[in-house]
Amino acid sequence: MSLNLLPIWSALSAHYELIRDCHMRDWFSTANDQPPTRADRFTINSSGITLDFSKNRITDQTIALLIQLARKTYVQERRDAMFTGEIVNPTEHRAALHTALRDSDAHSPYAAQIKTERIKMRLFAERVRNGQWVGYTGKPIQHVVNIGIGGSDLGPKMVTHALRHLAKSRISIHYVSNVDGVDLQNVLEQINPEQTLAIIVSKTFTTSETMANACSIRDWFRRSGCTPDQLIWHFVAVSANPAEVVRFGISPNNIFEMWDWVGGRYSLWSAVGLSIMIAIGPENFDRLLQGAHLLDKHFRYAPLERNLPVLLGLLGVWYRNFFGSQSYVVAPYSQALHFLPAYLQQLEMESNGKSVTLDGHFVDYPTSAVVWGEPGTNSQHAFFQMLHQGPTIVPIDFILSLTPEHSLPGHHEKLLANCFAQSEALMLGRTEAEARNIAGCEREALVPHIVFPGNRPTNTILLDELNPQSLGALIALYEHKTFVQAAIWNINPFDQWGVELGKILSKIIELELVSSPTGDLYKHDSSTRTLITRARKSITAKSTITY
Ligand code: F6P
Repeated sequence: MSLNLLPIWSALSAHYELIRDCHMRDWFSTANDQPPTRADRFTINSSGITLDFSKNRITDQTIALLIQLARKTYVQERRDAMFTGEIVNPTEHRAALHTALRDSDAHSPYAAQIKTERIKMRLFAERVRNGQWVGYTGKPIQHVVNIGIGGSDLGPKMVTHALRHLAKSRISIHYVSNVDGVDLQNVLEQINPEQTLAIIVSKTFTTSETMANACSIRDWFRRSGCTPDQLIWHFVAVSANPAEVVRFGISPNNIFEMWDWVGGRYSLWSAVGLSIMIAIGPENFDRLLQGAHLLDKHFRYAPLERNLPVLLGLLGVWYRNFFGSQSYVVAPYSQALHFLPAYLQQLEMESNGKSVTLDGHFVDYPTSAVVWGEPGTNSQHAFFQMLHQGPTIVPIDFILSLTPEHSLPGHHEKLLANCFAQSEALMLGRTEAEARNIAGCEREALVPHIVFPGNRPTNTILLDELNPQSLGALIALYEHKTFVQAAIWNINPFDQWGVELGKILSKIIELELVSSPTGDLYKHDSSTRTLITRARKSITAKSTITY
């Protein structure tokens, strides 16, 4: 039965009509907010994470109804199916066992493989870190270049950046993903081949951007005097396609395996996280896994009413499907979490940007929200104006750590103060009477401009400290939130057919751009045809990369 024909959906719609005009300011007023206060009732602590979701357009009744929705859409049953390795990705006939990667006691059929690969990663990372792994002139590795895109880039890059305060300073880690040569060139300008290690990360080992960058860095090594035999000291690969890796010319001994039961955007816990391990060390990598495992256990066993990913997922559904919010903002008040919004964009939008249900029917309700964001306080000076006074309601997740990762006095207090002030201002707003008071009678025309509607929903996610455990838990929180929403929307969060068509067409167009026109261009539309014809004239070095 379609989701919006469920009786609980109608109950939620009726409830929405009842509370849509209520203002959170009134719910928080001292007269109404008696102990246990909203903050008491709507705050949960687990796995090193505190979620305060009291500044949402919800009452106790809303939560009770949303929990019923989770039950009626079999969130628990689907969750258990994922954890026990059932085929939860039916279009690719695969399990999704990223949770097994962080469970050191797992009795899954994959436990032995996971252990073997983890030991191999650890030994290799330690040799690179302590300078035993040397380049072709005998010098220790100083630069690691991770070449990958999407899940083979965003997760490792986000984590390495977030935990940079724990990184070994002798080795710099660089991430190259874009096929725009500027990305690789910028990195190559900063490093020297003798002391560089390239990690080519690609589950399929056929992704065109990654292969182009891999070929170009191989040429760069060769031009520097490194012989084909010596390349063994400069290339390792992480892939589920060892045959292609070997065909590219990387030694079978230098291949770290990943498996088809780990989705790309859920893969940083596997050997895809090799660059993270080299940066922060195997012990810290283990802590990252432990933090995620703690959150996995919470998701699996905590009651739905106190379950962080379940609540975060349900709140997203509440705004997306009932308030009609098309997007939500991730605002980490943490420079270290700079890449978190980009990482979450892939996680949520590639997972849940779907229009077809698991049984192949078109949905008649919205699915994934658009995810966007930037760290605070920069975002305050860019787009927060719209969040406060624009006519559209955009929910926000504030994420911050109570402990700074730096030693500069005074900065952290300002950072925290700004974050707390934003969520309070977004909730409270400023009434017309308050605005009039500020404007004074001689500036009456200003009043409507300095009124803030308020009633803008936010979650505040607090970490005691940004460390490997809390970061692991935070990432797992969003992974499972994404899963909860997919379960409610009855869609498959583990495939990504939507990226295929563009890939196929780009191969055709690439050939058309570089070869001489013989006969008709592929039956493109007039716009694409004209763009190609125009671009052909400006392309001087007509070549394609072969590997
Ligand atoms: O863009 C689609 C996608 O398949 C992502 O899901 C994936 O993370 C990325 O490309 C990279 O794929 P691969 O690791 O196979 O190179």
